[in-house]
Amino acid sequence: LKVLSVASEAVPLIKTGGLADVVGALPAALAGQGVEMTTLLPGFPAVLDAIRKPRKVPGIENLLGEPARILSARLDDGRRLLVLDAPNYFARAGGPYGDTNGADWHDNWRRFAALGLAAQEVSAKFDLVHAHDWQAAMAPVYMRYRGSQAASVLTIHNIAFQGFFGGEVFARLALPDAAWSLDGVEFHGGVGMLKGGMVCADAITTVSPTYAREIHTGRFGMGLDGVVRARSHLVHGILNGIDRAEWNPAVDPHLAAPFDAKHLARRKANKRAVEAAFGLEEGEGPLFVVISRLTWQKGIDVLLEVIDHLVGLGGRLALLGAGDLALEAGLVEAAQRHPQRVGLKFGYDEPLAHLMQGGGDAILIPSRFEPCGLTQLYGLAYGCVPIVTRTGGLADTVIDANPAALAARTATGVVLNEANYDELSLAITRAIRLYEDKAGWARIQKTGMAADFGWDASAAQYAALYRQLVRA
Ligand code: ADP
Ligand code: GLC
Repeated sequence: LKVLSVASEAVPLIKTGGLADVVGALPAALAGQGVEMTTLLPGFPAVLDAIRKPRKVPGIENLLGEPARILSARLDDGRRLLVLDAPNYFARAGGPYGDTNGADWHDNWRRFAALGLAAQEVSAKFDLVHAHDWQAAMAPVYMRYRGSQAASVLTIHNIAFQGFFGGEVFARLALPDAAWSLDGVEFHGGVGMLKGGMVCADAITTVSPTYAREIHTGRFGMGLDGVVRARSHLVHGILNGIDRAEWNPAVDPHLAAPFDAKHLARRKANKRAVEAAFGLEEGEGPLFVVISRLTWQKGIDVLLEVIDHLVGLGGRLALLGAGDLALEAGLVEAAQRHPQRVGLKFGYDEPLAHLMQGGGDAILIPSRFEPCGLTQLYGLAYGCVPIVTRTGGLADTVIDANPAALAARTATGVVLNEANYDELSLAITRAIRLYEDKAGWARIQKTGMAADFGWDASAAQYAALYRQLVRA
């Protein structure tokens, strides 16, 4: 089965979040299921720099009014890539979605419509096109309205990001008038790219079973819950896996001391390294870590409210993140109130993220919503006990250390019901109590480390879905 996976990011080439981890891991995960996956990415500078000896795919010279060509290449690990080389769209200094000040590129509608159109143009070579998030969601739209034999799947990694643009851009999308409708991209008088993909794709998936249910509701659907309900029979929740080649504490080159469940004492050297990296005092007390985009989704404002409580109970905090400047300012104030007990790093640092999972005692993820979440899965694998909100993929992957679960030895973390001060401060209090019982804490760590969140089960579900759609 030949599948084209279309996305705006993929490790190891370009990453701003978990989307890249998942898109990067899918080809290898699905190879074991008899699926040959090729990944189509925008020709960002980092992507073009990484490919060698590309071949031009004949026939495509221009997309939506700008020069564009598609390059075919392999990465060193054998992975198959198609790259949309369109300098006027993608050859820019700054991030994939915005400039260095964080403002969205004004022409994102055209940049990512072009990505979808490119997918449709090459779709004849594939049995199925698998598009990820709004940046690729125009692929099923162009396939429906410009024609394609291939089946299509749209995965929603986060329904909060919808690619919604003014209605005036519709005329420039090279779509027939019929696409300006309920069955196309029209959404509240504008162009909704995620919405268009949702109504045109043969199936919709999202990245956990709980999130699949949640997006049917007004609270989590972000205005698209009506579309989800209308297409409910086509919606599947398939949990993300983690890439064990990248995230394995026994062989992780970013750790000061690799370890496994039989040698948890070795984590101490990593804890010392995290303390040093964040300018924290050394100590045996609990070290909480946060590795996150700094946004409302992630509940970082709630975290700010509980920092005094966390430190007051003898905890320390190391936070690595980037995002909202007001949240960064609040964190800086908290760090000033608690020298050597709260340490911060703003920016993106992959090696440090690994070290923190290997040295932190617990990872805080008080998200308001979380389609899947990967950092709690990395935490489980690394014995860094996750403290998470009961939502989305967090609810599906972490087992709360309540008395029943502790007695049954199934507990893997601490779960709070809602991202608010009362719930998070209580969860931190509970975690610190649990931590004080050394044997009990080690049991929780080991139970998490033994849990299997690799890709096998999820890859089998994707492959089964692909086959069902291709047969249909
Ligand atoms: P989301 O995609 O919503 O940001 P996920 O938990 O799915 O959340 O994935 C986040 C990914 O990004 C993880 O691989 C995490 O380790 C990584 N990450 C987040 N912030 C940083 C950072 N500041 N530095 C390094 N890695 C980060
Ligand atoms: C999105 C979600 C996150 C999920 C990731 C990968 O960024 O916010 O919960 O883990 O996509 O699917």
